[in-house]
Amino acid sequence: SNLLFVNDYYNGLILHSRMETIEVLNEDENTVCVKAGSGVEWDDLVAWTVERNYGGLENLSLIPGQVGATPVQNIGAYGVEVKDVLYNAEAIELLSGEKRVFSNKDCEFAYRDSVFKNRLRGKYIFTSVVFKLSKFPVLNLSYGRVAEVYKKYPEGGVKAVRKAVIEIRESKLPDTKKLGNAGSFFKNPVLGEELFRSLQKQYPAMPYYESGDQYKVPAAWMIDQCGLKGFRKGNVGVHVDQPLVLVNFGGASGKEILELANMIIAKVKARFNVELYPEVNFIA
Ligand code: EPU
Repeated sequence: SNLLFVNDYYNGLILHSRMETIEVLNEDENTVCVKAGSGVEWDDLVAWTVERNYGGLENLSLIPGQVGATPVQNIGAYGVEVKDVLYNAEAIELLSGEKRVFSNKDCEFAYRDSVFKNRLRGKYIFTSVVFKLSKFPVLNLSYGRVAEVYKKYPEGGVKAVRKAVIEIRESKLPDTKKLGNAGSFFKNPVLGEELFRSLQKQYPAMPYYESGDQYKVPAAWMIDQCGLKGFRKGNVGVHVDQPLVLVNFGGASGKEILELANMIIAKVKARFNVELYPEVNFIA
């Protein structure tokens, strides 16, 4: 999940988890701990929990990939991140073969980031993840059009949130089964006060989200401003509905995607003096 093989050949062994069970580990009056194997399709897990009216994962509907990737990537969408619901994650240390359970805190989560992309990169294979969910869901409808689309679904609750999120995602994100992509290719840049203010002067319409003394600016907007929305070179391109998504129209190599990504990084840097960092993990 979220991996880009940048060479034509990969000289190594690739393991794909087939641990595909979902079970309730324990529960009390208010909460339920659900354990999912690392090979469970993420959206199958979301559907399973929403079906039972357990709250916590509904905003993360329809994200492609498997459960085992979630503690690495701290996947997020529509105002929720996996760090908000992950209780612990079980892994095997590659060198010793020993089992280790990481608590939420151990994962050192940050925006699309964890200890597994940094200090512990490549050292563990996840076998399962436990999510702590609520039997009395508090809905999060704060992001973008979620609240507005939610109203279209009379059943309400987590089921309606899931439907709204699916509708919004399908309207702008390409279906990975039809058009190869890894979702957002770059993280949204987080700017300090000074750079943000000077850009805002130049571009008063620049969208942003404030958090403390930092400002997150949509990379999609920057790429769009560079005139790259819908750009295509050979079999790779910038998605026409969401410029943060790079697409493979079929048969393109990882190297071609990487070249496109580097071109975008250079253009955004030249225009805004902002460095874009990939959200996707490169495997050489
Ligand atoms: N925008 C444009 N032009 C466009 C499209 C978008 O200027 O053609 C601007 C608009 O101002 C819009 C803003 O970009 O309001 C943000 O767009 P969107 O709501 O689609 O969110 P995003 O910041 O591009 C992030 C996540 C997505 C997640 C959505 C919803 C990152 C890197 N990406 O995208 O996550 O689904 O928010 O929460 O944080 C992923 O990580 O793979 C992913 C798809």
